Amino acid sequence: MTMAARLPIDPGPATVQEISRRFDVERVRADFPILHQSVRGRQLVYLDNAATSQKPRAVIDAISSYYENYNANIHRGVHYLSEKATKGYEDARKVVQQFIHAADAREIIFVRSATEGINLVAQTYGRKNIGPGDEVLITAMEHHSNIVPWQLLCDEKGAKLRVAPINESGELILEEFERLIGPRTRIVAVGHVSNALGTVNPIATIVKLAHAKNVPVLVDGAQATPRLPVDVQDLGCDFYVFSGHKTYGPTGIGILYGKLALLDAMPPYQGGGEMISSVTFDKTIYNKVPHKFEAGTPDMSGAIGLGVAIQYLNAIGMEKIAEYEHELLAYATEKVSAIPGVRIVGTAKEKAGVLSFVMDGIHPHDIGTILDQGGIAVRTGHHCAQPVMERFGIDATARASFGLYNTKQEIDELVRGIYKVLEVFG
Ligand SMILES: Cc1ncc(COP(=O)(O)O)c(C=O)c1O
Repeated sequence: MTMAARLPIDPGPATVQEISRRFDVERVRADFPILHQSVRGRQLVYLDNAATSQKPRAVIDAISSYYENYNANIHRGVHYLSEKATKGYEDARKVVQQFIHAADAREIIFVRSATEGINLVAQTYGRKNIGPGDEVLITAMEHHSNIVPWQLLCDEKGAKLRVAPINESGELILEEFERLIGPRTRIVAVGHVSNALGTVNPIATIVKLAHAKNVPVLVDGAQATPRLPVDVQDLGCDFYVFSGHKTYGPTGIGILYGKLALLDAMPPYQGGGEMISSVTFDKTIYNKVPHKFEAGTPDMSGAIGLGVAIQYLNAIGMEKIAEYEHELLAYATEKVSAIPGVRIVGTAKEKAGVLSFVMDGIHPHDIGTILDQGGIAVRTGHHCAQPVMERFGIDATARASFGLYNTKQEIDELVRGIYKVLEVFG
């Protein structure tokens, strides 16, 4: 079978050959137009991938091709363009299903982002199943997106948010986590990969511990899908969310995976067109999943663009990407930790491509500013994980986060930049 026959979505003008090449960082870089520019007179070094990743030409072309050739509203149309757009959108759902190894395409809901996926579960599953005195269990390393939706729910319902602690390396303390799953725990919500520390959580173990007490688990995979192969059936989780824009796809599109039986039993999230099967002023009958959760005109170009991004990653292979990023992380950890006065925050045994660090007596914003002057983009601040900062007794870190197009030479540039910071502020 040819590669073309296996690609359900037309990737637009980019040829299939182009995206199915073997992983070779220089050839991968050639696929990302934005990387080839100078910033402040220096070649751009983009190390802010945990915030958002750049897009390969195939994704950009697929979005243009959608608007140039077959933009139309989906599902309701009988005309050619609408059928083509509907097929592109529904094919993208199948691509996502295969990417995370869901059992059924109906388990894939298109949402706006990981954030919206978590809010959807809190506001539907949560509102239905959590009452006064019940508990929601999260961990001390969550992104605000996996804290605040649960706080809103707990405030509304008179429920309690419990937080499983982490150790000095930034690893979840499993015994404490297990101890905190009590008779009132109604859901566990946990990140797969921490955006502030890089820790990879042992999700399969976490799920086993929670399921042993009949508690469902939501996994925030926002930092995992760009970095690791994900198999929701192997993990055993009940819900899994991620964002298109961190997974080399467009902004404004995200995924909620949920087990079919759970999704079927959940009330709808938003009301509007498409999520209904019939409406009268007396009674509305809701559509079946996934459409029940996709009210209104969805982000067609976003879904199609995400499908192509995933095909791009598949063509390289998530195993290879994970291996390569691991190599970059190990290299960066060795080089950066050898710089005098630098301390790495987050030293878990299992880590993915995120390197947070602080420097003695130098504010992370100053680190970021000096690096930016050298064309190096990193993130500084609390990374939307203020409780993590509090845990480590700091306000902020500088964070370099890697993507599949980064190189060891770019890490050398980062190291040179950090020495420059020392020169200026040290
Ligand atoms: C771990 C984690 N969860 C959730 C999110 C939220 O993602 P989004 O803003 O795309 O909804 C982020 C974004 O940085 C993240 O890193």
